[in-house]
Amino acid sequence: MKQFFVLFAFLFTFSQIHSQENLPTDYLSKEFHQERREAFRNLMPANSAAVVFSYPERVFSKDINYNYHANPDMYYLTGYKEPDAVLLLFKDPQGAEKYTEVLFVRERNANREMWTGRRLGIEGAKSKLGFKTVYNGKDFKDFVVDFKKFDTLIYDKIPTDLEINNSSDNLYSLLQTFKNKAGIIKENETSLNLFTNITSSLREIKTPEELVMMRKTVKLSCIAHNEVMKAIGPDMSENEADGIHAYVHRHYGAEGEGYPPIVGAGANGCILHYGENNATKIDNQLLLMDVGSEYHGYSADVTRTIPANGKFTEEQKAIYQLVYDAQEEVFKICKEGTPFQDVNNKAREVIAAGLIKLGIITDVRDVRTYYPHSCSHFLGLDVHDKGNYMGPLKENMIITVEPGIYIPANSKCDKKWWNIGVRIEDDILIKKDSYENLSIDSPRKWQEIEALAKQKSTFNDMKFPKI
Ligand code: GLY
Ligand code: MN
Ligand code: MN
Repeated sequence: MKQFFVLFAFLFTFSQIHSQENLPTDYLSKEFHQERREAFRNLMPANSAAVVFSYPERVFSKDINYNYHANPDMYYLTGYKEPDAVLLLFKDPQGAEKYTEVLFVRERNANREMWTGRRLGIEGAKSKLGFKTVYNGKDFKDFVVDFKKFDTLIYDKIPTDLEINNSSDNLYSLLQTFKNKAGIIKENETSLNLFTNITSSLREIKTPEELVMMRKTVKLSCIAHNEVMKAIGPDMSENEADGIHAYVHRHYGAEGEGYPPIVGAGANGCILHYGENNATKIDNQLLLMDVGSEYHGYSADVTRTIPANGKFTEEQKAIYQLVYDAQEEVFKICKEGTPFQDVNNKAREVIAAGLIKLGIITDVRDVRTYYPHSCSHFLGLDVHDKGNYMGPLKENMIITVEPGIYIPANSKCDKKWWNIGVRIEDDILIKKDSYENLSIDSPRKWQEIEALAKQKSTFNDMKFPKI
């Protein structure tokens, strides 16, 4: 009777904590993650094992952590979004049970879950993620696996900055257990390279399920950009503009942003990874906004540069048009077969010629002074996604096309150009003979931006008490 009561209390407590209503219904399916694991196993060499760890938790302030962000590779292969987990994949079936995959997860714990949130646990990993062989992290130590018997082990870089922690089920102890079992003193280059090569070759090509996510994250980011274009005025602060993006992202169900937003006015727009976003007024300057949402793990990466007062000056317009032209020329070669580097070269070539024409540089080699970054990167679960940056473009890759020109004050050119920073960034789906601009919903032409700026935004009517 007592046992029955304890069991009842246990089940009651967990069902209370575990029940959660009104969750999104469009997460990637367990079949997607299962299929990705199969694709990974197909690329593993004979007699090999792969080991994938969750990302560490990181401190935000004393005893408060940042909201946890899953390791994109772990998420891609499992759908598991919690810390302190390890996934094992085997090329060949193992043991009497003939398993090819094992997942170690955080143990359910009513007290911890009341403090830090729900845990999927063993049963959840089986029912929701489709794993058959799942254990609690603390059981990894005693799990019988002879990593030394494999010809090849495949794993990612192992973090070395974790706090030593002797409890048996946190990431630190999972990593120690793996290193002990596998006899790893120093990471093996072949293991690291294989992990990168396999995950890159899978993740660089988006599946139909991923394309649904990518279209959504990019589309809603465009809506956010458009809303700021309408709402903006010289009195708005950089952080308020950032806040409008954040609000719109969340309105459409995004978890947040795929990277720290860059919202920089005038001189701040000339700092490539500006992140303070703390100018209290945009004034009559250009505002460069590089902001993209993260929707169910997938990041958009969209940049628009707009005049706060709704009208570009002649100089701003000239620089803007040159960046626009560079984008247009790059779009023309966005199709299967184009070497990745051609995209970067094309953008640089157009910008160099344009800067010479405007009298801002006299030698093409000086283009890097005002355009110091490359034009494109893969986009997906990571904003700078995995993929082969040396190879040709392939169907269903998604890349950014993001030329820019940044002319800080005191640059060696006429001062009429100073403090103009322009980047235009779009997210491009590569097709067999062409491309699709996924971020088409946000205007790029300066005429269209000026026209949109004349419209009113919902945010213009928001009134807050004065303090
Ligand atoms: N938002 C980062 C980048 O454009 O690469
Ligand atoms: Mn980018
Ligand atoms: Mn960007």
